Amino acid sequence: MSTTPETTLLEKVTSLCKRRGFIFPSAEIYGGFRSTYDYGPLGALMLRNVKNAWWKSMVQMRDDIVGIDAAILSPPAIWAASGHLETFTDPLVDCKNCHERWREDKIDGVCPKCGSTELTEARAFNLMFKTQAGPVADEGATAYLRPETAQGMFTNFSNVLSTSRKKPPFGIAQIGKSFRNEITPGNYVFRTREFEQMEMEYFVPPADAEEWYRYWIQQRYQWYLDLGIPADQLRLLEHDAADLSHYSKGTTDVEYLFPWGFDELEGIANRGDYDLSAHTAASGVKLEYFDQGTNERYTPWVIEPAAGATRAMMAFLLSAYHEDEVEGEVRTVLRLNWNLAPYQIAVLPLSKKPELESVSREVLAKLQPHFMVDYDVTQSIGKRYRRQDEVGTPLCITVDFDSLEDRAVTIRDRDTTEQTRIKIDDLLHEIWNRTTPA
Ligand code: GAP
Repeated sequence: MSTTPETTLLEKVTSLCKRRGFIFPSAEIYGGFRSTYDYGPLGALMLRNVKNAWWKSMVQMRDDIVGIDAAILSPPAIWAASGHLETFTDPLVDCKNCHERWREDKIDGVCPKCGSTELTEARAFNLMFKTQAGPVADEGATAYLRPETAQGMFTNFSNVLSTSRKKPPFGIAQIGKSFRNEITPGNYVFRTREFEQMEMEYFVPPADAEEWYRYWIQQRYQWYLDLGIPADQLRLLEHDAADLSHYSKGTTDVEYLFPWGFDELEGIANRGDYDLSAHTAASGVKLEYFDQGTNERYTPWVIEPAAGATRAMMAFLLSAYHEDEVEGEVRTVLRLNWNLAPYQIAVLPLSKKPELESVSREVLAKLQPHFMVDYDVTQSIGKRYRRQDEVGTPLCITVDFDSLEDRAVTIRDRDTTEQTRIKIDDLLHEIWNRTTPA
């Protein structure tokens, strides 16, 4: 168990992420760029694993959900119909003393920077990034960077329905970048202006919407548990009717115990027929389903689990971070789930001698088609184990001089530090046995 005080856990994880190549401040050589981050070699692997785990559970393992990849650049018509042009705003106030800008609903009537209570009246600040498509900057050139991936799934409803031959209940899933001009980004990658979402729109007969809403709340909660977040760090929070978004008939958040308290990881919303009806009205194209069984035409209701990939990665990192004691020394270990760890395995030849290298490379080649494998030859074996523990590699495979004789290697388990001797020919079988696919 970690003995880290919660206040410094965030600093420790942030520092580890920088030091080991998970997450770098963006444009660092120019002094950084406003709460923007780049994912380094290990971070890119882990973020990909988070998205793959989501895609596997939402698309690959189901016959009722298909995936798409829609455009980020989008015309104003979409955002007028969705309600974002009018209502996707935060209340912005200026401090009259130090001129800092704040989200009124996030401060208690006092400027957090200088303590002044002299604040301007709140005005609605639209969070969408507006840009121009093409060389002529007239009205018709206005485009927006999508603030959510959801709308691409509504606007493609008929395309997907007719090409996939699905019928309600069925879902459309998508992973991709979204952009919001957040007034106060912060808490590391928790709230950034550029981030990745993993969203799914599940289209159902209206009468079944409540049942599916409850179903998806449980499914999504379980996903985080299955990937290693302890139950006491997760909770479900149903929104009061007064706090619901403009489209929602009910929303429940999956919350994670971040260092500053429980906060949103994902929202599951019952969006009713709001989106399909709004796009039908605005575009003139009927986004409906004709049920040949009952001869009825209707607008499906939508249940939407909407998660953040970058935010989920942060929660997985925080909950995996531990400091324990091995052979009298404190070690830092990321107890990441097998499916999320940047590398599943590290191959570590005991020395740089060429005869060891050839058998080590043979082991590496055997594993690489199936797993992401690190190959590390520098420094003592103890130091290399610590390095792998710190980035969450579940298994280390050590190749030593005996390996040349007995064609066996030592597998070391990250969590128990237990070591087992295994024949090279049995390696793959042994590793499959030890792991549970996501
Ligand atoms: N389509 C509904 C929708 O976008 P949301 O609650 O605004 O709902 C869904 O966003 C998820 O996207 C959030 O739960 C969060 O994980 C992630 N998210 C939203 N804004 C974010 C930001 N500025 N930075 C990082 N992640 C964000």
